[in-house]
Amino acid sequence: MTTLFDPLQFTRGPQLRNRMMMGPLTNMQSPDDGHMSEAEFDWLNMRTTGGYGMMTTCTAGIRADAAAMEGQIGIWQDSHMPQLRRVAEAMKREGNVALMQINHAGLRANPDVTGTVPFGPYAEPATGGREMSTAEIHQVIEDFAIAAKRAEACGFDGVEVHGAHAQLLSQFLDPRQNRRTDGYGGATMEERSRAMTETLQAVRERCRPDFILGLRLSTERYEINLEDFRELSERMMTSGLIDFLDMSLWDCFKEPDDAKFAGKPLIDWALDVKRGNAKVGVSGKIRTAAKCRAALDKGADFVILGRAAILHDDFPQQAAANPDFEMAPLPVSVDYLRSKGVSNRFIGYLRMWDGFVANSGPGMYTEMATMISGVDPSCFAIGEFAEMQAEAVK
Ligand SMILES: Cc1cc2nc3c(=O)[nH]c(=O)nc-3n(C[C@H](O)[C@H](O)[C@H](O)COP(=O)(O)O)c2cc1C
Repeated sequence: MTTLFDPLQFTRGPQLRNRMMMGPLTNMQSPDDGHMSEAEFDWLNMRTTGGYGMMTTCTAGIRADAAAMEGQIGIWQDSHMPQLRRVAEAMKREGNVALMQINHAGLRANPDVTGTVPFGPYAEPATGGREMSTAEIHQVIEDFAIAAKRAEACGFDGVEVHGAHAQLLSQFLDPRQNRRTDGYGGATMEERSRAMTETLQAVRERCRPDFILGLRLSTERYEINLEDFRELSERMMTSGLIDFLDMSLWDCFKEPDDAKFAGKPLIDWALDVKRGNAKVGVSGKIRTAAKCRAALDKGADFVILGRAAILHDDFPQQAAANPDFEMAPLPVSVDYLRSKGVSNRFIGYLRMWDGFVANSGPGMYTEMATMISGVDPSCFAIGEFAEMQAEAVK
């Protein structure tokens, strides 16, 4: 039986010392020009000594027009690299495998931040998003590869391509809306996932042979239902292109929404697919050492911690010391968050997550899922809201 503290070896890259990864966590602490601030560096740096097997930065824009929110980091120009180099060094110095998550938000890009009209695989009249040309798809694929090459040059062990949460590559997967006829859309999963596959191929071709390549996918509340998610997971894992698949399930142990899959928790259905040589990690409400073990017992190769890593810079060390370790009960106080290196600006953002920060009133969003997948113009005010909340906690 695999334990949480067994090392893990992907097909490529260095070994993970254990089965716990700190997941991508957007924190809005950096300026809109994509250069990582000292506050964001400090926040990540604090977590480098917590004993994680693998860590990733939050989502990083591959182009100037990629960001969904204010305060996100970027990797679209060389001037972003010095600070990213520091992050990679800090992660690796402390024994973590170091990743960047690279992304384009597509139709979810925020024009107030990017100054441009959002685009995606199809036009979206409700937001004014326009349809990309085939040449633009080729360019974005190239830009993913260039960004990955930059991450490699910064010293990261690998990248995770963001193909989840209604971001650009996941928008292509939507069978109802992506009816492109240029081979990047249509009736089959092969066509709708072509942009994703070509992105992974481009990264693979551009980066050194032992560079780790991961992919994040999500299901249910986004463009693909569980059945399509299982088909796509299998397709991607058996392609030989990726070293790991990060399954973003939001709540691993709940029953699937689709009645066709009743009777077993989501994680069981998600993991019941052919894997080829790829490893699989799961994310979603894994907040106790016992849940980490339960996910491995279900067949996951590793677990990905989100909110538990915000509240515990040292979750793996705590889990090693105490097999019954549990995330701090919610909601947490502002003082507690500050003690964990979370700046006022990030606290402002966290106040939007229902029931997370004490004395916040109802959060604007129960889950990020609602926030970024719905065509909700209020998402364009997130920065302002976080700013206001940050002022309030000063
Ligand atoms: C504040 C916050 C920021 C997040 N930022 C990202 C992100 O940049 N990229 C991403 O793929 N997921 C992001 N997520 C999703 C998390 O990585 C994780 O999958 C999700 O929170 C579920 O895991 P949890 O229940 O352990 O928090 C974010 C979640 C939170 C709470």
